[in-house]
Amino acid sequence: MDKIKLAATAAFGLEAIVKRELIDLGYENISVDNGWVYFDAEIKDICIANIHLRCAERVMLVMGQFEALSFEDLFDKTYELPWEKWISKEGKFTVKGKSVKSKLYSTPDCQAIVKKAVSKKLCQYYDLDWMPESGAEFTILVSIHKDLATISMDTTGARDGLFKRGYREKSMTAPLKETMAAALVKLSFWNKDRILYDPMCGSGTIAIEAALMGRNIAPGLNREFASHGWPLVKEEYWKNAKIQARKNIDFSSEIKIYASDVSEKAIRIAEENAIEAGVDDCIEFFVKDIHHIDKTIGPYGVLITNPPYGQRLGKNPQVSKIHNKLGQVFGKDETWSIYVITASENFEKEFGRKANRKRKLFNGDMRVDYYQFYGQRPEK
Ligand SMILES: C[S@@+](CC[C@H](N)C(=O)[O-])C[C@H]1O[C@@H](n2cnc3c(N)ncnc32)[C@H](O)[C@@H]1O
Repeated sequence: MDKIKLAATAAFGLEAIVKRELIDLGYENISVDNGWVYFDAEIKDICIANIHLRCAERVMLVMGQFEALSFEDLFDKTYELPWEKWISKEGKFTVKGKSVKSKLYSTPDCQAIVKKAVSKKLCQYYDLDWMPESGAEFTILVSIHKDLATISMDTTGARDGLFKRGYREKSMTAPLKETMAAALVKLSFWNKDRILYDPMCGSGTIAIEAALMGRNIAPGLNREFASHGWPLVKEEYWKNAKIQARKNIDFSSEIKIYASDVSEKAIRIAEENAIEAGVDDCIEFFVKDIHHIDKTIGPYGVLITNPPYGQRLGKNPQVSKIHNKLGQVFGKDETWSIYVITASENFEKEFGRKANRKRKLFNGDMRVDYYQFYGQRPEK
């Protein structure tokens, strides 16, 4: 079996969650560095990781790592890597790059050098003057951090990271990325035996991601990945990974997820998305202004929500009123656990209680906090 090194990339603050996902999938020798979660794998794991990971951004095939202090270093060491093993004669490849705190700081120059080195290697191997670049797509990434160059290939897809599950054709403004919504659920203590409620569900992302977890539906089951066309990633690997993922689906558990929003349009879109994701039987959607909620839905629930963002600093009276209401209803029920992602720094004050834990995250480019209030746990 061919041993390879893969890396699942994670958004800031989510590295530990992605590592936990990899451990749960049975991977070993996992290390975390600068947002990349490295693990030992075989080629078939390209399919398994892409299909199963819920919180990672993408799965990278690590071609090599080396010190790059000059363009000669970068060219020679890139040239030495086994490109001919992966990239077919017709392979179309683009090079992306980034460089942080390194001697080779010009990203366009680094990209051009890597492109040249890979082209030279492949032209020599296939005995061509130039590569036709008419076949499967390969996106190479050269990332240099403190002079250490990591050369990798994106197995997921340059355009569509793992967040693209395929169920969210429509969305309301400011939807959460699916990978972030999945991470918020993972960071709560929710499990499928407990009630989950999102009272400001927008396009339904949190509820749908929780339902996929509750049903144990792999998030990448209904989409394609860039490495689908790669010669070494055989069609049977994809087929076997999908057959196994389908076998793992739990169709029988009764799952109780509730999702509401003040906007009728949001609820219509969320319902359509849940149908598309195949989990509409797990979620009860309804139109409701949070100001009209006066009690929790049963005991021991988990509330996970993403209220409208006000400014990070300063007050927005409407948003403050929503925070007050969350505190008055859900904050008062000691059996409920409450998880709120927001950019507002006044949240705890307006909610009326200090969080048990506050986790710094980024929603896209926006710095946010995930406030966690732990409620009593149900008796077993
Ligand atoms: C940031 S968005 C939530 C996005 C959602 N997480 C998603 O992924 O699509 C905030 C939502 O709160 C809803 N909202 C605003 N005021 C509300 C209120 N008073 N009661 C209930 N929902 C409200 C908005 O309609 C919007 O859908």
